[in-house]
Amino acid sequence: QTELSLRPRTLSQYIGQEKIKQEVAVYIKAAKKREEPLDHVLLYGPPGLGKTTLAGVIANEMAVNFKTTSGPAIEKPGDLVALLNELQPGDILFIDEIHRLPKNVEEILYSAMEDFYIDIVVGQDATAHPVHFPLPPFTLVGATTRAGLLSAPLRARFGIVEHMNYYTKDELTEVVLRSAAVFNTKIDPLGAQEIARRSRGTPRVSNRLLKRVRDFAQVAQKDSIDKEIVDYALRLLQVDEHGLDETDRKMLETMIELYDGGPVGLATIAANIGEETDTVADMIEPYLMQIGFIKRTARGRMVTRAAYSHLGIEPNNQKNY
Ligand code: ADE
Repeated sequence: QTELSLRPRTLSQYIGQEKIKQEVAVYIKAAKKREEPLDHVLLYGPPGLGKTTLAGVIANEMAVNFKTTSGPAIEKPGDLVALLNELQPGDILFIDEIHRLPKNVEEILYSAMEDFYIDIVVGQDATAHPVHFPLPPFTLVGATTRAGLLSAPLRARFGIVEHMNYYTKDELTEVVLRSAAVFNTKIDPLGAQEIARRSRGTPRVSNRLLKRVRDFAQVAQKDSIDKEIVDYALRLLQVDEHGLDETDRKMLETMIELYDGGPVGLATIAANIGEETDTVADMIEPYLMQIGFIKRTARGRMVTRAAYSHLGIEPNNQKNY
């Protein structure tokens, strides 16, 4: 099937994450040669970098079924048993946000992952009895934002652990060009580069910005998305030169205005900007840290001089940012 879809289907279509692709290609080949399921895989890293997409690619390359669910969707052991029961040998079960599995569900995963069986209690009170339930050999692919969110016993059961990194500008330019082709939309190389540059290193952001810019281009009757319409659209969307959005800037400005640039704790910042601490920790802070706008110190987060300069705010020269 050569039809292009927004999500790549093969490792060769998957842009970026070169080191991960190289490794995973070897593990897939080896597992296929041995006619065994792939070892369990843990993918961790910021949201929007393609963890679910990569899991689907792995299933496709292994030529097995791909079943997806998420930690919060599995409320009780029976939910997990039902999912595991439907698996064919070698299938991939993908659990997104695996750190949010209830504890009693996580515990039955241990034997399922290690030895492909589960022991569950069936019936109630007088009729309650343990049942030993063999499973087909399968591959669990788990995704989480930070590996540290998983309990040690769960983490230890993944034979393959991969950290997803932010994409480079060139990689994101490729993603934008590819997505534009999927949408049958013409785009200039400089337009694609500009979207890439302002996408916070994240393909999901690139694809979202591309869709919005395409709307502006369509209404402006441009036959190709050029840098001019990108600049115009992103100014209206309040995405700045570094790709920072309103929330990013609010976090930096709050740290500067209320705490003189820090140090200040993450939970305090989150409360001040009206976001969940987890949202700040998983989605907002990592990119600001990556581009050197925030640094972590023993006493909390600090805004850096580079961030002051970007925001056009004069730093307090008495302080050691
Ligand atoms: N679309 C989103 N992420 C992608 C990636 N890494 N490669 C190709 N297309 C994508």
